[in-house]
Amino acid sequence: MRELKVQPIRNGTVIDHIPGGMALRVLGILGIPKEGSTSSVSALISVPSKKTGLKDIVKVEDRELGPAEVCKIALIAPRATINIVRNYGVIRKYAVTLPEIVEGIVSCGNPNCVSHNEPVSSRFRVISKDPPRLRCHYCERELVGADIPAHLL
Ligand code: CTP
Ligand code: ZN
Repeated sequence: MRELKVQPIRNGTVIDHIPGGMALRVLGILGIPKEGSTSSVSALISVPSKKTGLKDIVKVEDRELGPAEVCKIALIAPRATINIVRNYGVIRKYAVTLPEIVEGIVSCGNPNCVSHNEPVSSRFRVISKDPPRLRCHYCERELVGADIPAHLL
């Protein structure tokens, strides 16, 4: 198999195994582009995956991700892996995962839900991780797969 000519990064985070076409959403979650930021970011879209089909990859230099960012990525790319790179080497690799309860990460799809009308943060129980299925703690409304990206906070 031919090797991909993909520039390695020196320090930072590589988000790999993103479903094909979802890289731009991952960039959105990370708030990229950010005015005034000087760290380099690269996105590879629709590259062949060793496993199946096509995948996207996002590389962010000089940055590590916070738990809320990882949680959001797990909601749109449940099989993504996060690689922490130091001095060109992968020093840590982990699969994204969702906690049992997701709080303040997505908004409820039910316009009458109390979470929209009271000063409380949204709260969902994770029913399934892949594909993601969430159930609102307040109104029981489910939020599933394709509806999640539009509800990310
Ligand atoms: N990577 C990078 N810069 C580096 C090291 C790694 O951009 N200095 C990227 C690789 O291109 C790859 C990801 O980080 O997309 C993970 O690297 P590695 O663990 O070496 O690759 P694989 O073994 O193919 O990973 P996996 O088994 O998770 O598919
Ligand atoms: Zn609700």
